[in-house]
Amino acid sequence: MNRLKDKVCIITGADGGICHAASQLFCQEGAKVVMVDKDETVKAKAEEIKKQGGSVIAIVGDVSKKQTWELILKTTIDTFGTVDCCINGAAEYSLTGDWNTDTIDMKEWDIVFETNLKSMLYSYQVVLKYMIDHKIKGNFINFTSATALSYNGSACEAYPMSKAAIKICTSDMAATNGKYGIRFNMLAPNSVKVPKLNMVFDKYGDWLKSITPLGNLGEPMDAAWALVFLASDEAKFISGAMITVDGGWSTCH
Ligand SMILES: NC(=O)c1ccc[n+]([C@@H]2O[C@H](COP(=O)([O-])OP(=O)(O)OC[C@H]3O[C@@H](n4cnc5c(N)ncnc54)[C@H](O)[C@@H]3O)[C@@H](O)[C@H]2O)c1
Repeated sequence: MNRLKDKVCIITGADGGICHAASQLFCQEGAKVVMVDKDETVKAKAEEIKKQGGSVIAIVGDVSKKQTWELILKTTIDTFGTVDCCINGAAEYSLTGDWNTDTIDMKEWDIVFETNLKSMLYSYQVVLKYMIDHKIKGNFINFTSATALSYNGSACEAYPMSKAAIKICTSDMAATNGKYGIRFNMLAPNSVKVPKLNMVFDKYGDWLKSITPLGNLGEPMDAAWALVFLASDEAKFISGAMITVDGGWSTCH
């Protein structure tokens, strides 16, 4: 309890499996949470957390647009007075399965890059700028993916490429912004079973278990606990780090 007492945390993708779990856990640990998602259902999820005593608000918006980030920051400051942590969890996956360079779906490619990368850049232009201007020693947590850490045979698939770019950018941001006392870290999940990807896990779940050293799929809370640690003062000397939450998958791929 209280590992995040009074820390104001923006969490995007908060209608999704991992970041919804994180929103619940952050509130239990004393944080004030701004849940953001493009799906309206994030509002009901925030209400549920509020009923359990959480200090939380929800914003519905597309994080690939700069105006959304301006609204997120304004609402956060108007409601909670400051911002300590920003978790860039919103993501689109490339699910067409066609990774051939000649026939790849360029519309899907653009959506994946806009959502996964542009949103991160806007979080820096808006939230990081606010932290620097107000001398707040906050922190950012971005999501890369175990699929971005090694060869996975999918050539130009947008998703792992976008996650590889996030990895490089997060390390660079940690190096260049350490002087402000602002930390940048990453989570690299794999095979964490989330409701919105049920179709994928129904189809490939057994295979994923077979290639995972711990022999099982992860739960959203497994990733949420790692986020609590990175967002908390327990990690105050940790920047540029990546925690894998993948049952050991990346040790053997
Ligand atoms: N589940 C895993 O095993 C796994 C593996 C690797 C990486 N990740 C990463 O973990 C993070 C959380 O993913 P998850 O597994 O909980 O997936 P999820 O699909 O449950 O959650 C993603 C959320 O992002 C939201 N979103 C998508 N585009 C948006 C936009 N433009 N604006 C606002 N919200 C938007 C979706 O509505 C969804 O609620 C993601 O960054 C994902 O890439 C997860």
